[in-house]
Amino acid sequence: MRFDVLTLFPEMIDSCCGCSILKRALENNIIEVNTINPRDFTLDKHKKVDDTPYGGGAGMVLAPQPFVDSYENVDKLPNSVTVMLTPQGEVFNDKICSDLAKYDQIIMLCGHYEGFDERIREIIQPMEISIGDFVLTGGELPALCLIDSVSRKIEGTLGHSESANNDSFANGLLEYPQYTKPRVFRGLEVPEVLLNGNHAEIEKFRHEQSLKRTKLKRKDLWDKWKANKS
Ligand SMILES: C[S@@+](CC[C@H](N)C(=O)[O-])C[C@H]1O[C@@H](n2cnc3c(N)ncnc32)[C@H](O)[C@@H]1O
Repeated sequence: MRFDVLTLFPEMIDSCCGCSILKRALENNIIEVNTINPRDFTLDKHKKVDDTPYGGGAGMVLAPQPFVDSYENVDKLPNSVTVMLTPQGEVFNDKICSDLAKYDQIIMLCGHYEGFDERIREIIQPMEISIGDFVLTGGELPALCLIDSVSRKIEGTLGHSESANNDSFANGLLEYPQYTKPRVFRGLEVPEVLLNGNHAEIEKFRHEQSLKRTKLKRKDLWDKWKANKS
């Protein structure tokens, strides 16, 4: 999987990709992350990438030329998708994440300031993704959410191939509670069933716990899960 990130702040992407599981996936060539700075493509002699909005209003709007030119310069693989990170996009979830993981390349456009000149959307025609109904200062954190969550779906990124299959959302439910040593902590004991080595009983317990906490914490997921079962 190759991620190409168009960003005015490449250091934000580089610093997060230099840690932990993403770092290991990069070192093992399971993923590749490239950053492209539209500022390097601006034709403006002062390297400007934004300007005031036509019609007035606060803030600065990202100008089309540096973004469109830098996008057109990206080497595109045959099985590639382009994503614009924007609070106006489809809200990201595990299903979209799995769909994105089927591509060989995800090109991402990160906005900043007041966002993109509308013609960037019109010319590039990207898929638009939001990471939730709130507004961030830039698209770098949302892009990192995509890089991180999509990478987890790529074979070899996680230590055990099964780890992602049991996670929350993978089967439409939240994950069951997890415990590690010690067996008793501040008087709270690990449920007995997890200690007896009976895998069928452990599976049953975990499934029941998944159902219980999904019903309690996420009524939307619970209703969907029930509807799919009937
Ligand atoms: C301050 S925001 C611009 C918001 C824009 N004026 C609006 O109201 O729709 C700057 C950039 O941050 C990114 N961004 C902010 N919130 C986001 C979200 N919830 N999901 C994805 N990207 C987001 C986008 O790339 C956006 O262009």
